[in-house]
Amino acid sequence: PASIVITIDGPTASGKGTVAHRVAKHLGFQYLDSGALYRLTALMAIRTGVSLQDEAGIAALARTLPCQFQHGHVLLGGQDVTDAVRAEQIGVSASQIAVLPQVRQALVELQVSFRDGVGLVADGRDMGTVIFPDARLKVFLTASAEARASRRYKQLIEKGIAANMEDLVKDLTERDARDSSRATAPLKPAPDAIILDTSEMNAEQAVQQVLEWYAEAQ
Ligand code: C5P
Repeated sequence: PASIVITIDGPTASGKGTVAHRVAKHLGFQYLDSGALYRLTALMAIRTGVSLQDEAGIAALARTLPCQFQHGHVLLGGQDVTDAVRAEQIGVSASQIAVLPQVRQALVELQVSFRDGVGLVADGRDMGTVIFPDARLKVFLTASAEARASRRYKQLIEKGIAANMEDLVKDLTERDARDSSRATAPLKPAPDAIILDTSEMNAEQAVQQVLEWYAEAQ
């Protein structure tokens, strides 16, 4: 039988990555950061000079993305791009190519291939709606734009990257609008998803809530 999947979807900087990663660790499951695949594709396009509007060209890159995930490090063509791929500008570029249906289609197989072994926790925008519709538990993680911008701000400052709250709120709002309004696989909760608003919650409280729901779904 196909292994168990927990999907955690939600808007930019809602804390999905942290929560999904910790839940996977608790359960001994694999973890898929699907946003990283869109980010890697965008980075690859920028580095090889393929225009972000060239749908077929970018889909071709996505189909044969030379990426590896090793102990929290991300490699592209054998090169460590862990920090480069997290850059705010790459997130924006990722959301631009994520509207292209051929690019989304090209990444389906790679995403599904993470489902091996005991179980998988997958985070993204369309994990519960498109990629793993048969997931055991679907969570839609949200938080107010202000809470998300201030979390992103702290993350960037901790990493020694300059950041500005006003720009971050603007970025997040634009990215939310683009992710929610696109025709293919827009950001929206699956009909059977449970909504978790983490505006007033820390990461560990969110992790415990997801684990509780997972235990109840058995
Ligand atoms: O989650 P993260 O911010 O890393 O994702 C970067 C961008 O990739 C998102 O803004 C979104 O446009 C796109 N994405 C997507 N579908 C996913 C994951 C990410 O469209 N499953």
